[in-house]
Amino acid sequence: MPFRKEKSFEIVIMVLKNKFQVAVNGKHTLLYAHRICPEKIDTLGIYGKVNIHSVGFSFSEDLQSLEMPTLRLTQVQKSGLSQLSLPYEARLNSAMGPGRTVVIKGEVNTNAKSFNVDLVAGKSRDIALHLNPRLNTKAFVRNSFLQHAWGAEERSITGFPFSPGMYFEMIIYCDVREFKVAVNGVHSLEYKHRFKELSSIDTLAVDGDIHLLDIRSW
Ligand code: GAL
Repeated sequence: MPFRKEKSFEIVIMVLKNKFQVAVNGKHTLLYAHRICPEKIDTLGIYGKVNIHSVGFSFSEDLQSLEMPTLRLTQVQKSGLSQLSLPYEARLNSAMGPGRTVVIKGEVNTNAKSFNVDLVAGKSRDIALHLNPRLNTKAFVRNSFLQHAWGAEERSITGFPFSPGMYFEMIIYCDVREFKVAVNGVHSLEYKHRFKELSSIDTLAVDGDIHLLDIRSW
């Protein structure tokens, strides 16, 4: 129960193709499959003992009508369901460095165990950043694979941000000292650079139990 008497709250309702996805105070809360066609919905009603501070709407672009991906793709990009096939690997349009951002949009499979998003130095195959949410244990494992070996895992997290069936937008922002990762608009973790040659990081790899919907970087 995410609501408390006398406490303020923020509810975000994302309208997806086949369901609503609701987050309360930045935390994924529930999915609700459409029972009527969402195009018919034209009214928002709020009733009961609550004070409303503000209501807002935002409209994100249709995935189909987006401009050209900013990544140079090394594989056929779209299957019939406008979903990128896995394992996915593509070169970044320009090398990693402070100020760069990579966004991964996807939907977690309903029976998902795990998936990974890796930033790779293509030449040496070192993995500078391995992001590995494990749904079965609710662990968000981070690590690097340098000189043919995994290092120490980082696992601390305030709240595991993924859930089966959930749509997500993961933002990886590269800072001078670390990567910062946010999920659905909420900051999730930092990862201090272990692989220091940021400009050698030129490849993004994604695999695991998700539908991969879109990748972009700038
Ligand atoms: C291993 C796993 C790898 C990688 C690594 C991260 O157990 O096999 O795929 O996730 O952990 O530390």
